[in-house]
Amino acid sequence: MDQHNENNATIAIPDGKPARKLRVLLETYGCQMNEYDSQLVRSILIKDNFEFVDDLKTADVVVLNTCAVRDHAERKIFGRVHQIRHIRGKDNPLIIGILGCMATHLRKALLDDAGLKIDFIAGPDSYKNLKDIIREAQAKGPKSFDVTLSEFETYSDVYPARQKESVNAWVAIMRGCNNFCTFCVVPYTRGRERSRTLDNIMEEVKRLASEGFKQVTLLGQNVNSWHDGPHDFAYLMGQISQIKEIERIRFTSPHPKDFPDSLLDLMAVNPKVCRHIHLPLQAGSDRILEMMNRTYKAQEYLMLIDKIRSKIPHVVLTTDIIVGFPTETDEEFEDTRRIVEKVGFDSAFIFKYSQRQGTIAAKKYKDDVSDADKTKRIVLLNKIQQEITLQKNQAHIGQTHSVLIEPVLEGQGFNKAVGRTDGNKLVYLPLGENKPGDLVRVKITDASPHALKGEYCYSGFPFSRE
Ligand code: SAH
Ligand code: SF4
Ligand code: F3S
Repeated sequence: MDQHNENNATIAIPDGKPARKLRVLLETYGCQMNEYDSQLVRSILIKDNFEFVDDLKTADVVVLNTCAVRDHAERKIFGRVHQIRHIRGKDNPLIIGILGCMATHLRKALLDDAGLKIDFIAGPDSYKNLKDIIREAQAKGPKSFDVTLSEFETYSDVYPARQKESVNAWVAIMRGCNNFCTFCVVPYTRGRERSRTLDNIMEEVKRLASEGFKQVTLLGQNVNSWHDGPHDFAYLMGQISQIKEIERIRFTSPHPKDFPDSLLDLMAVNPKVCRHIHLPLQAGSDRILEMMNRTYKAQEYLMLIDKIRSKIPHVVLTTDIIVGFPTETDEEFEDTRRIVEKVGFDSAFIFKYSQRQGTIAAKKYKDDVSDADKTKRIVLLNKIQQEITLQKNQAHIGQTHSVLIEPVLEGQGFNKAVGRTDGNKLVYLPLGENKPGDLVRVKITDASPHALKGEYCYSGFPFSRE
């Protein structure tokens, strides 16, 4: 770090006291990619001599790493900005910046919003410039922003500053998306798809292993399209599985278009690659799937599910679904419902279509399904899915699973230990001798739609992956 940077990140204190570091409060919204990016931001700003704080009262700068995927996500941020200004009051102002997908989605409109009074914005590829952007905002010059998207930035030279003690580390192996699903803002907010190199990812995962992480979750908007020269995603997972200390490898989110047999075969035989696939369906009608530009038909999706299940018995399958895409009729919604019932996903995230400015769907199609119909569809589908999820979870009662013990999160369970099965199901356990990071053998004794309950088994080693 050069001296120049240090000076940028300090604040002059009156009364002749020495300048101190600028205090930053960072809040993260949206997907795991944003969680990862916030760790990159921490790493970059710590090097640039900023200090991170948790208390809004003592912060000089608040940065919100934001999501633009649905209207609700953006409205939440607007509310938060007003709340922050209110809490700080007129006499104690601070600098507020917006990072992430809202920055590249709304761009200058964000800065020009007189009500919000945002001081700076920076898009997902601009975090290395943050110190300059913040300094400019601090100097109260013209509002500062950098929302340029890069075809190359992968932050390969930044090791994320992971904050909490955990057993899992997120690792972004690629960035951006080229799929242009017509409803989706991500290709515009995060730019073109680019993969990190094999060597660079391996270096990060080896370092994580040496720091005690037991599980890595590989991240990408299209994680299974990752490649480096001749090496594909299955090869990468095979390489990572050879790192001794890493017990489990997960990934999210894959696209149904990129599931070669080599990947499924690896998942079937490699004990470290967890048997959970999050496979977004989005809709069950071929007409809607085509309008969405998902590039598969419902039948092809179902054939892929059959193939996955035949190669990987006991695989846990989860999905994303959108209801109320423009022109979706009741009958077409029924197609989605039928697939949900037919596949029997372990769980599903179901969303109401939210029109996003700049997307192909917003340009081509009117958002013509009424909110009442969207609500009717989402309520019905959630109800059906909840019943399926409960049945799926109940089917585990009496089975034994290997469970990786995790740190207990706030509000997660008093006087209980928590862990996850290979298939990523949450398990509550009695407090025992075990500590986070231990792999234990557990017998499932009860189930709800949200979690399993279990007790430790002390015999019968070695345990299976179930
Ligand atoms: N890259 C990932 C996730 C994208 S966003 C993937 O392709 O799987 C996560 C989910 O949000 C999507 O799968 C989709 O179901 C939902 N989503 C995206 N845009 C949306 C919109 N405009 N309205 C409603 N839901 C949306
Ligand atoms: Fe969005 Fe589709 Fe890309 Fe996922 S694959 S990020 S839904 S455009
Ligand atoms: Fe949201 Fe951007 Fe993630 S729009 S879902 S934070 S990629």
